[in-house]
Amino acid sequence: MSDAIHDALQRPLASLRLSVTDRCNLRCRYCMPEDEYVWLPRTAILTFEEIERLTRVFAELGVHKVRLTGGEPLLRHDLPTLIGLIARNRRVDDLAMTTNGLLLGKQAAALRAAGLQRVTVSLDTLRPERMLAFAKSARHADVLEGITAAGQAGFTKLKLNAVVIRGFNDDELADLVEFARGHDAEVRFIEYMDVGGATRWSQDQVVSQREMLEMLARRYGPIEPISGDGRAPAERFRLADGTTFGIIASVTAPFCRTCDRSRVTADGTWFLCLYAARGIDLREPLRRGASDQELASLIRGTWQGRTDRGAEERLGVADRGALYRIDSLRADPHREMHTRGG
Ligand code: GTP
Ligand code: 5AD
Ligand code: SF4
Repeated sequence: MSDAIHDALQRPLASLRLSVTDRCNLRCRYCMPEDEYVWLPRTAILTFEEIERLTRVFAELGVHKVRLTGGEPLLRHDLPTLIGLIARNRRVDDLAMTTNGLLLGKQAAALRAAGLQRVTVSLDTLRPERMLAFAKSARHADVLEGITAAGQAGFTKLKLNAVVIRGFNDDELADLVEFARGHDAEVRFIEYMDVGGATRWSQDQVVSQREMLEMLARRYGPIEPISGDGRAPAERFRLADGTTFGIIASVTAPFCRTCDRSRVTADGTWFLCLYAARGIDLREPLRRGASDQELASLIRGTWQGRTDRGAEERLGVADRGALYRIDSLRADPHREMHTRGG
């Protein structure tokens, strides 16, 4: 394998998030709170062959972790076929997916059979009526069914993501810890981020990692940090009885310094940072007939110049509010979290 390439801050190119569709079947308030959206044009959406080829070029440059995201990735027709194409790549040693779980009950076994290794399911609340108010969906039972199906299909190390928002679900932390324990899963509490799409973000709705730890310590007693590899976004913790959980503190304690990830949108735009204003068009060279070498040299040169520290820079913003207003998201849907894939 070629030597890993590093960016201007000495961070390796190691992890790729592939958004396979910008569509979603939920309307979570922290991601898609509006009534209408501008979608990527269908002809711009990469085919499975195009995604597989790009992934191969990235893998030859050092990417060994691939995560499928959306929108909701299970809305992409025939996803197991794409998983099979990527799973064949020997350089990819970690193939995962982040899903809202609605369609997982039906698809878990096929995804597993195709070669998917890990699944993360978003679960912000255990109360169906809260999901209805918060994500405009009455299908809470389908999410729970999806989580059970993932376990039955043989997915281990299941992760559950809960974005914690003050006044919405900040009273459910312990309930989510208990639920995860009962499903052989690990819950990760995520600070509410001011990413594109979060048009109603305000600092006072953010429950900080510190506050979360205080709330959980009141219920469970002393909490012990677990040392990790320093690259995963979550800091992990252990309760006295051995139960573990994670916190992703992207607002109060960003992990930019060790960030080895980038993301490709469903139309082949490559973003070096979740907060980046602009991405690099990989679809154009791909469809123009560029060789693997040309694509590789574009990716290598771009990564080597990377200086992004989006979340850290946001820390310095006075009067921090939503990153984008709705008109600017409509003008360029690439700014949306559901297009970037988180
Ligand atoms: P693994 O570490 O491989 O398990 O995956 P992950 O935790 O990166 O994936 P997941 O899709 O579950 O993302 C969890 C949370 O981390 C989401 O809220 C993301 O928005 C946030 N996140 C993901 N990527 C980035 C990133 O590059 N920068 C920041 N600041 N936050 C991110
Ligand atoms: N803040 C934090 N996490 C978010 N996600 C989407 N929008 C936000 C936000 N504003 C999360 C989803 C999912 C992951 C891919 O990104 O809940 O778990
Ligand atoms: Fe990486 Fe940008 Fe996220 Fe920081 S904000 S961790 S640099 S993607």
